[in-house]
Amino acid sequence: MFFGSDNGAGACPEVLNAVIAANSGFSLAYGNEEMARLAEQEINRVFERNVSSFLVSTGTAANALALSAITAPFGVTLTHEQSHVLEDECGAIEFYGNSSRLIGIEGLGGKISPQELTAKLKKVPRRLPHAMPLKGLSLTQASESGLCYSAQELSELCKIAHDAGLKVHMDGARFGQAVASLNVSAAEISWKAGVDVLSFGATKGGAIACEAVIFFDETLAQDFAFKRKRGGHLFSKHRFLSAQMLAFLKDDVWLKNAHHANAMAQKMALSLTKKGVRLGYNVQANEVFPVLTEAQDKRLKEKGAVYYPWSGRGLQCAPPAQDEHLVRLVMSYATTDEMVQAFLNEI
Ligand SMILES: Cc1ncc(COP(=O)(O)O)c(C=O)c1O
Repeated sequence: MFFGSDNGAGACPEVLNAVIAANSGFSLAYGNEEMARLAEQEINRVFERNVSSFLVSTGTAANALALSAITAPFGVTLTHEQSHVLEDECGAIEFYGNSSRLIGIEGLGGKISPQELTAKLKKVPRRLPHAMPLKGLSLTQASESGLCYSAQELSELCKIAHDAGLKVHMDGARFGQAVASLNVSAAEISWKAGVDVLSFGATKGGAIACEAVIFFDETLAQDFAFKRKRGGHLFSKHRFLSAQMLAFLKDDVWLKNAHHANAMAQKMALSLTKKGVRLGYNVQANEVFPVLTEAQDKRLKEKGAVYYPWSGRGLQCAPPAQDEHLVRLVMSYATTDEMVQAFLNEI
């Protein structure tokens, strides 16, 4: 009963086999190998146009390097107050951005609304050169609370940001889960909606460690090869990153995996609701946030269930009482029906 994180699953067989296959023989290094071009072509296919893409091994590196392309040397990025870039990356954004700054915006379910963005744009100090210049907006898809921005919502937010002179970054650590949930194309919820640069996650979807920084606004990509190298994120044995991304995208393994994770989350959510458990947020991707009673929490833990508490801001249900626990359950491509059923049996 492991629901602690989608990082708790191993790598999916397609990716693992591709890495093993890539292990034989010699290869050019540092992204000069042929497989790197093939991975780029797959990314172009998925996004239905030519893009500049760069592979790195963690989501934090993808976000921090991508945002540094927008903000360096000293710009401000607006983001949700509970976003991973703001709360969970140990200042990597500011570090790689040469002391750039993140400013949080409130919003239900980890999402920023057009009204909240407009209001914040009015409030943020803009007296130059005394204030730091506003440079970016970072949106998380799917959000940290498991909700998805629709293509329409993204278009509205991107328009507001672009009109204010900001570039838009998307933290897509769970981008595949959002595409699967919304039943749209990758293009529709990225560049067609106005996103300028995307951190496209593969790790949570079934890779070992691989994310792509994808530039739709080519002007932002100009110095990126230097930024990645200087930041220590140009892999020498880059073929192993290429192999992962190639296998992840080929035959739409990424979508198959995301659909499975989402389906497990839907099953968990529906059954919990039927059992009278309320959920902190609607379930749109692969995360479920039930409010458990003390007794349920204790019993589940005794039976070995693994999950973590969640700090419930911007909830879509009544807040937990003193003796209740809001927790986060994350499903992955490897979550089984049996795991979900075993959890439900203890409720
Ligand atoms: C929303 C979000 N962005 C990015 C990441 C990537 O983080 P990491 O650097 O651990 O790969 C995570 C991982 O938990 C995440 O949840």
